[in-house]
Amino acid sequence: MKPPVYVTRRIPQAALEILRRECQVRIWDSDDPVPRATLLEEVAGCEGLFCLLTERVDTELLEHAPRLRVVANMAVGYDNVDVPACTARGVVVTNTPGVLTETTADLAFALILATARRLVEATRFLAAGQWKTWGPMLLTGRDVYGSTLGLVGFGRIGQAVARRARGFDMRILYHDPQRWEDAEKALGAARVALDDLLRQSDVVSIHAPLTPDTHHLIGERELRLMKPTAILVNTARGPLVDEAALYRALREGWIWAAGLDVFEREPIGPDHPLLSLPNVVALPHIASASIATRTRMATLAAENLVAVLRGEVPPTPVNPEVLPGPGHRP
Ligand code: GLV
Repeated sequence: MKPPVYVTRRIPQAALEILRRECQVRIWDSDDPVPRATLLEEVAGCEGLFCLLTERVDTELLEHAPRLRVVANMAVGYDNVDVPACTARGVVVTNTPGVLTETTADLAFALILATARRLVEATRFLAAGQWKTWGPMLLTGRDVYGSTLGLVGFGRIGQAVARRARGFDMRILYHDPQRWEDAEKALGAARVALDDLLRQSDVVSIHAPLTPDTHHLIGERELRLMKPTAILVNTARGPLVDEAALYRALREGWIWAAGLDVFEREPIGPDHPLLSLPNVVALPHIASASIATRTRMATLAAENLVAVLRGEVPPTPVNPEVLPGPGHRP
């Protein structure tokens, strides 16, 4: 009999086909998130869970899913999954690294340009019928080319942003627990302490995972270290930044602008204070949202799930230590 799996959202057909070939698939066939109670019921007999960053995979869920063998998260970030709890139960967790790197870096760069050159403010100005004449200082912004970019996190995505920045003749600084010597050389990047990066950068772009150590990595103290002319871009996870402090920083001019794709509590509504500020460009967590990339993320998650249920090594495991060793038969 095919192993039962649950899919928590409507996903691209190509991914469903991979799953259906080898599994008995039940799906929350909607563009809205699955209610928690339904999820807990549905996972009861499942061996595989295909989920999104909107689902919390914690001890409670694992206790409802005694047969679960794999959690395939359709995202590179997996802060929604309690990995140690999964590992303790021998449940393999997988994510989707690599396939979204360039698409996410494109969007980070779009936010850099949009905030520096005030694109959204300018469009609103036009739509409001305020354009009367060409003005010498009308909607003037800041130059991106030749400025200093500070990357908080210099893994795959941070480095992809750095590659784009080279085309804009930017000076590149990075802060990362790990030294990336080859990338430093290839990209002309310098590793510095976080405080130095914040003091020196014209654009600070965040590309670090959310962990207990990085929660509120950028708070009031850090924002006050930044230049009053600087821009903060966050395409990583909202809780890396203390949003209340960021609001004050933007309102009171400690920094100049922010480009945000992620928020502390998602989704945000139209009354969110940050949306009232002209110097914020805000997006609904779409950094990896190209058709090709979202399709590839979904198929990679499906490939991961199917591989584990076959007893094979999945392409991108998060906790490979729970995988069976050589010679194992499922
Ligand atoms: C999206 O935020 C992801 O982690 O892939």
